[in-house]
Amino acid sequence: MPDLITHTKQDESRQGEAYSPFVHEPVTYGKKFYIESYGCAMNFSDSEIVASILNENGFGATKNFEEADLILINTCSIREKAEQTVRHRLQYLRGAKEVNPGALIGVLGCMAERLKSKLLEEEKLVDMVVGPDAYRTLPGLIEEATDGQKAVNVLLSREETYADIAPIRLNSNGINAFVSITRGCNNMCSFCVVPFTRGRERSRDTDSIIRECQDLFDKGYREVTLLGQNVDSYYWNNGQQGAESVTFAQLLERVALISPLLRVRFSTSHPKDITDEVLHTIAKYENICKYIHLPVQSGSTRILQLMNRTYTREWYMAKVDRIKSIIPDCSISSDIIAGFCTETEEDHQDTLSIMEYSGYDYSYMFFYSERPGTLAARRYADDIPENVKKRRLDEIINMQRKLSHESNLKDIGNTVKVLIEGNSKKSDDDWMGRTSQYKVVVFPKAGHALNKGDYAMVTVDDCTGGTLLGRIVG
Ligand code: 5AD
Ligand code: SF4
Repeated sequence: MPDLITHTKQDESRQGEAYSPFVHEPVTYGKKFYIESYGCAMNFSDSEIVASILNENGFGATKNFEEADLILINTCSIREKAEQTVRHRLQYLRGAKEVNPGALIGVLGCMAERLKSKLLEEEKLVDMVVGPDAYRTLPGLIEEATDGQKAVNVLLSREETYADIAPIRLNSNGINAFVSITRGCNNMCSFCVVPFTRGRERSRDTDSIIRECQDLFDKGYREVTLLGQNVDSYYWNNGQQGAESVTFAQLLERVALISPLLRVRFSTSHPKDITDEVLHTIAKYENICKYIHLPVQSGSTRILQLMNRTYTREWYMAKVDRIKSIIPDCSISSDIIAGFCTETEEDHQDTLSIMEYSGYDYSYMFFYSERPGTLAARRYADDIPENVKKRRLDEIINMQRKLSHESNLKDIGNTVKVLIEGNSKKSDDDWMGRTSQYKVVVFPKAGHALNKGDYAMVTVDDCTGGTLLGRIVG
C-alpha cells in the first residue's frame, strides 16, 4: 500500500468541536486528544478507529496538539526514513509537555510494534506504546500512564478486525472513505517488515463491511476504498454450519450493489492473488473503478525470487495482458523498489522495461531500505551503494513521468465521468474530481448546478503534469 506521509488534519468545519458517530449533536468532552498519522492508508484508517474508541471514553478531537491531554502518533516502519521522520516529530511534540506537563504522548502502529518498549525505556520519548491490534486497550493504558506506570501493549492478535467499531472520519471531504477489510499479511516478501508489525492476515466479517459502506453512502459519501495489505486474499466464513464463504470478488459485488452512485476502489492487490473472477466482477459493474494497484517491485525474475514475490517477470506480464483483455480501459499502478540486494544493471533495465510493458499510469517508487529482522536483512547483504540506488531510482522516476504523460495525452479528446471531490486547489471557480481510472480532472464550474459528490461528464482538452483539464459537456 502506497505511503501517504502526510498528517491528519481536522476538517475545518469541525474546529473546536468534537463529533461522535453515535449521536447527531456535537458533544462536549472532558479531555482532548490529538492524532497524527504516517505511512499507508491502513494507518489513516486505523486512526479513525482509535478516534472512535477515544470518543467513547470521553476524549474529543483537537487539531492543536498544544491543547491536547493526549497526543498520539500513528507510525510507519516500512523504510528507515519513515521511522526517522517519526522520531523527529516525537521530539518536537514533546514540547507540548512544557505547556501542559500532564499531557501524555503515545506511539501507535508499526513502530510501536517493532520497537516495543524501547521507545519508552531507552529513548524516553513517549508515555505509551500501543501496537496495531491493541487499540481497544487504550483506555486502560491511558489510566496506567496517568498513574506513572509503563503503558505498553504490543500483543498481536489472530482475530482482531475492529469490525464492530464505527470509525470517526478524521480528515474527510465527506466523499471518499477508507474501509478496512483485512488486517495483517501472510506473504513473506523478503524486504518487508509488515508481517512482523501487523501480524497474521485475517478478514473482517462481510456484513460489518457492507453495513459500514451502506452507512457511508447514506451519509453522502460517494466512494469507498476497500483496504488490506492483500485484498484479493479476502475470505470470510462465519464458521457456522452451512454458512457460505465470501471471496473478494463476491465482496466487491456486494459493495457495488449498494448503489450505482457509490464508487468502489480497493488496494492493494498482490499479482499472485488477483483472480479472473475479480477481473470479471470489475468489468461487470460500472461503479467498480477501473484501476488496479498491482505492485511489481522489480522486473527481474532473479530479483523477484530473492524478494520472495512468487512470480516471474513473464508471469506478471501475462497478468497485465489478462487485465487489459478483460478490462480494456483499466489503469494499472505499481510499487517499485530500486537497488535491492545484488541488483545488477541488467536487473534494473528489466525493471524499466516491465514498466514500459505494463504502461503504468502511476507508480510509488522507493530505494531499498534494509529493515532489521526481515528475511532479506538476515540472508542478503544490502550491497548496492547509495549513489547507485539513487541513480536507478531517478531513472525509474523519469520512466514513470514519461508513462504518466503518455497516458494523459491519450485522454485528450475523450469524455470522462468525473466524481466531484471539491473545489480545485487553485480556484474556487473550478471543480476537482477523479475519473474511474483515478486521474485528477480540473474543470470550470461554468454556471452548472453541480455539487461535491455529483458526477459530471467532462471532455478533456489538455493536461499538465498529473492533471487532466476539461470542460463539462451534456
Ligand atoms: N525498502 C524499500 N521499499 C519497501 N517497501 C516495502 N518494504 C520496503 C523496504 N524495505 C515498499 C514496497 C511496498 C510498499 C508499500 O513499500 O514497494 O509495496
Ligand atoms: Fe509486505 Fe509483501 Fe505483505 Fe505487501 S504483500 S505487506 S510487500 S509482505
